[in-house]
Amino acid sequence: MRIDATGATHDGDATYNGWMAHLRPQWPICTHDKKTDNSMTDPILLTPGPLTTSEATKAAMMYDWGSWDGAFNAMTATVCRDLTAIIQAQDSHVCIPLQGSGTFAVEAALGTLVPRKGKVLVPDNGSYCKRIVRIMNCLGREVVVLAHDESAAADPARVDAALAADPTITHVAQVHCETGTGILNPLPAIAEVVAARGRGLIIDAMSSYGAIPIDARSLRFEALIAASGKCLEGVPGMGFVIARRAALEEARGNSQSLALDLLDQWQYLQKTGQWRFTPPTHVVAALRAAIDQYQAQGGQPARLARYASNCAALVKGMRELGFQTFLPDALQAPIIVTFHSPADPAYDFPEFYRRVRERGFILYPGKLTAVDTLRVGCIGAIGPEVMNQAVAAVADVLRDMGVRERARR
Ligand SMILES: Cc1ncc(COP(=O)(O)O)c(C=O)c1O
Repeated sequence: MRIDATGATHDGDATYNGWMAHLRPQWPICTHDKKTDNSMTDPILLTPGPLTTSEATKAAMMYDWGSWDGAFNAMTATVCRDLTAIIQAQDSHVCIPLQGSGTFAVEAALGTLVPRKGKVLVPDNGSYCKRIVRIMNCLGREVVVLAHDESAAADPARVDAALAADPTITHVAQVHCETGTGILNPLPAIAEVVAARGRGLIIDAMSSYGAIPIDARSLRFEALIAASGKCLEGVPGMGFVIARRAALEEARGNSQSLALDLLDQWQYLQKTGQWRFTPPTHVVAALRAAIDQYQAQGGQPARLARYASNCAALVKGMRELGFQTFLPDALQAPIIVTFHSPADPAYDFPEFYRRVRERGFILYPGKLTAVDTLRVGCIGAIGPEVMNQAVAAVADVLRDMGVRERARR
């Protein structure tokens, strides 16, 4: 893309490449070598966003972009183009970027694409499914909860039966990877029953997009939601919705919100090349750099392979220490792993967290109400050697705390 003296953009990516070229030489993923990597005063984030980012992604935020400037608009355009292409949706869908965390984009997608008299079925097997239900209640739209056990994947046969039983359900809202536990829901099978019943599908792919395969040419959906600071390894601050163009164009008058109206956001972007309201410029620049690295590293298959290695190293190491996983391996997504808290009375999560943090790793508390758990993320600019170092830190801490009985509470 060429940007002339007035800031107008022209075809091709040359100018964009020029702006960002200085950021491109170094893309190593983090090795957590405190001696050679001066970023390592930062802890390694074993959390599913914010997560550990590469040096090049951090460096991309060392430049101030003008929100009206042609160069920034060109960057937004290339980001949206690439986000759509990552799931092969460029012929059928459009990408609408949105300021804020992932929940803002989920709420925007539901509020924009579900008509005010619509009714949404939510197969519920975890906390992010429950968040969708809360959003629907806040929006004053009808919602039907299809309750599942938190250790069970969403069941396509039950979704099919619920749709058959209630023809007034217009949409299904499905969380792909339920980050509350780490379970991977069977998205293709659910998409098939939703399409066969002629209803719309809205996918919360926040923690799966970019790593778990999704192909819009074979999987029918109205909207898919994700964010900058997850498997693309950008920084948090921007969500995006990949919406079927025809569904978006029919969405006029659905949204009760100004800031979360995706149709308005998209139309303004189409007309002007600009975001409607102040864009998260540094977040967009970091995401641009993160996508460049994603593509250079081999895109979705390579990202999945690295996360699968991270997950395997983590689970093997933690099991060797005596921990038990909450989910069976067959249901586990390589994104975040829930472990049962050790039974030993000497174990105390806040103290355990503090000591592991002192050794350079940030863990996550569990999100389950019925069982005492902790979670460890497998995503971010890290490889399996970092997971091994994290397991070694956990082993040291357990020994120092005198935690001998590591099986579940
Ligand atoms: C499945 C899922 N949905 C939605 C969100 C959005 O949450 P937040 O607004 O905190 O980014 C997340 C964040 O981790 C998530 O994992």
